[in-house]
Amino acid sequence: MAVNMKGKSLVSINDLSHEEIWQIFELSASLKLKQITGEQHHLLKGKTLGMIFSKPSTRTRVSFEVGIYQLGGIGMYFGPNDLQLKRSESIPDTAKVLSRYLSGIMIRTFDHQDVVDLAKYASIPVINGLTDLLHPCQVLTDLFTVYEKKKVLKGLKLAYVGDGNNMAHSLLHGCSKVGMNISIASPKDYQPQKLIVDNAIRNAKSSGSKIEILEDPFEAVKDADVIYTDVWASMGQESESEKRKKIFKNYQVNPNLVKNAKKDYLFMHCLPAHRGDEVVDEIADSPNSVIFDEAENRLHVQKAIMALVM
Ligand code: CP
Ligand code: NVA
Repeated sequence: MAVNMKGKSLVSINDLSHEEIWQIFELSASLKLKQITGEQHHLLKGKTLGMIFSKPSTRTRVSFEVGIYQLGGIGMYFGPNDLQLKRSESIPDTAKVLSRYLSGIMIRTFDHQDVVDLAKYASIPVINGLTDLLHPCQVLTDLFTVYEKKKVLKGLKLAYVGDGNNMAHSLLHGCSKVGMNISIASPKDYQPQKLIVDNAIRNAKSSGSKIEILEDPFEAVKDADVIYTDVWASMGQESESEKRKKIFKNYQVNPNLVKNAKKDYLFMHCLPAHRGDEVVDEIADSPNSVIFDEAENRLHVQKAIMALVM
């Protein structure tokens, strides 16, 4: 049965029900097919999406802007210096003003609380395009991509190797909602936040997922159906790059690490990748790798999200 998501913000996957997640996947598949066959799908004719970016972006920016256009609406890009936010206009005032002009807001920024507050004070839906804490649109896309390739999600094992960052957090939320098992391997001081792990453990009680937080990457990838990694230094952590390279050197996804995964494992990465650090070309460009399908699917999944909430 269809769930009404109109007006709902997407701040965290943890706020979505199982039904809402599957509704997003079903519409994503249908919009992807329409896109391929060239069937018009102007579900958001005349609507406007404001896109606030305090950090750089290739995939998120281009896929949202192309996506809203393909749905019959228009996207407006606001870079780090464009809005009065830069000159300390408050989040509540910005939310109330933008709600008078726009049909929806997509925001990428540093502090997750800013997105929570924007959604609280806006009367239009707010979509989280990445914060330091979470990256929900990416993970919904990743799960949709796994489902396309494996035709099932429940019971699969995803191993995430690397920094316990925004990607690890949203993967914990996403996997635990859909019944996938997730093993995370990160160095001791770089593990995912307890609050997020607790969310996942709570979700797992009803979905049946197994959650493992480890330090050993070899243990994490054992019998994995999906191996996922991300950069060792996220946006905003560039000054720590050299230090992190030393700490994370045993967490590189390379032929030796993947030996004990299932033969038909999928290699995933949200991109951008630092090839030679967290992953080597031999893996990123191997037949197991689905990194560019993941990137393409950002478009289809975000169109579905926009169509459902706007
Ligand atoms: N994966 C992702 O969000 O990419 P961008 O930073 O290029 O948007
Ligand atoms: N963890 C990365 C993800 C980029 C899509 C970052 O926040 O920079």
